[in-house]
Amino acid sequence: MMKLAIIGTGYVGLTTGTCFAEVGHRVICVDNNAQKVVALQQGEIPIFEPELEQLIVSNVAAGRLSFTMDIAEAVRLSDVIFIAVPTPPLEDGSVDLSYIESVSCTVAELITPEMGYRVIVDKSTVPVSTGSKVLQVLQRYSSSGVDVDVVSNPEFLREGCAVDDLLNPDRIVVGSDSARALDVMRRIYQPFSAPMVETDLASAELIKHAANSFLAMKISYINSVAAVCEAAGADVEQVALGIGMDKRIQRHFLNAGLGYGGSCFPKDVKGFIHVAEQLGSPMTILHEVENVNERQLARFLNRIREKMWILGHKRIAVWGLAFKQNTDDVRESVSIKLIKQLCDEGAIVSAYDPAARITGAAALEGYDVNITEDMYSCLKGAELLIIGTEWKEFAQANFSRVSELLHLPLVYDGRNILHGENVTAAGLEYHSIGRKTMMPKS
Ligand code: NAD
Ligand code: UGA
Repeated sequence: MMKLAIIGTGYVGLTTGTCFAEVGHRVICVDNNAQKVVALQQGEIPIFEPELEQLIVSNVAAGRLSFTMDIAEAVRLSDVIFIAVPTPPLEDGSVDLSYIESVSCTVAELITPEMGYRVIVDKSTVPVSTGSKVLQVLQRYSSSGVDVDVVSNPEFLREGCAVDDLLNPDRIVVGSDSARALDVMRRIYQPFSAPMVETDLASAELIKHAANSFLAMKISYINSVAAVCEAAGADVEQVALGIGMDKRIQRHFLNAGLGYGGSCFPKDVKGFIHVAEQLGSPMTILHEVENVNERQLARFLNRIREKMWILGHKRIAVWGLAFKQNTDDVRESVSIKLIKQLCDEGAIVSAYDPAARITGAAALEGYDVNITEDMYSCLKGAELLIIGTEWKEFAQANFSRVSELLHLPLVYDGRNILHGENVTAAGLEYHSIGRKTMMPKS
């Protein structure tokens, strides 16, 4: 059992802290958002994440997990201090490291030689060389004689399946220039069966940016192939299957759609572009990854305009507000961007999402969108249906009911999540990404 503190109790901090407690460590989660901490202390979970609530409840009850605003006490009582605060993008695409700097300064002032050895672990996604700056801060602002090392331990969890990703990761990456700190990390991760990749500090930081950018590149690649498929009358799902069975390529992250969104890929691709440029080694390939991602939504809307002509005053239903399935997170959601664009063109939009109705409404503040409680009332009076998020429950919808409710028999699937046969059997025209339009069967 190790004594751990996690500074920043958001998606990453809360799920990581909970999973560390689940494998037997004693974890104190710290946040400076009083409302969040009080809610967690009262057993209210601030995010929608499958399996998380149950694990929090059982680990709090077992005395292994607690929540506080008192960073001083957490630092005093913990051997290892994880930093999991936001690293949002700035206007120029660079990463805002002020949260990391601020926590590093606070920790530096709190640790004393009497506390003994402390390891500071960066879990936030940061540009290469951030860890060495954190070490400088610790050396500059701590009292003399403190014994401290810095580690980079990037996180690869996906929202919507964060608990499973944390408890069963593909690999664990830890980077440090201190052998002693790496030994501490081995002990923390000893209960996990995943292979551990041990690197120097800078390489671990780079692995995170490079991994996210590579996944974003896979998505933009298949979306480019989808555009060719549309022009050639081929089927991108068949192409993805055919190339994905090559073990060197793999089928994962070859789902064509409206493009990637979320709080990570857009900012991390930008962040990697920026730091590479600063280092004089531009990652020019990533500019095209971004361009393709931007074009995806524009191409999709053009196809709808081709059919409907002017979108002003058209009643349009959109299923999906979250940036992906199994989450209520709408940060950089492509579906929200789509709805805003439809509204800007004068369309009358209604929307439904299984989990993101509240967060979606907040993101659409100022836009006149009717967010409904169930998927079918969203369709009342609508001329066409657009799928913006890949929720599995959309594929299980009753398309005869959909067909009865829609004024025109038109379904545009921006995530290739529906079964075309079910849609067309209900008398609906089915448009998707990178595949031929399927006409109604009856
Ligand atoms: P988040 O916004 O959900 O949570 C961050 C938390 O930090 C918030 O609760 C905030 O109140 C708190 N905080 C900010 N400043 C603080 C301070 N000085 N002291 C204490 N708490 C403070 O962010 P997130 O999604 O958890 O992301 C955190 C980092 O992890 C980012 O660098 C992100 O890129 C990275 N990451 C995110 C994911 C993901 O799926 N969300 C996955 C892997 C990595
Ligand atoms: C992503 C990575 O998958 C995680 O490994 C990483 O830890 C995380 O970013 C992060 O650094 O924060 P996440 O953003 O939660 O995780 O979700 P993904 O499942 O990767 O989806 C991201 C976006 O890509 C979504 O908008 C999704 O719809 C889209 N996507 C994903 C596609 O369009 N096609 C695909 O094949 C896969």
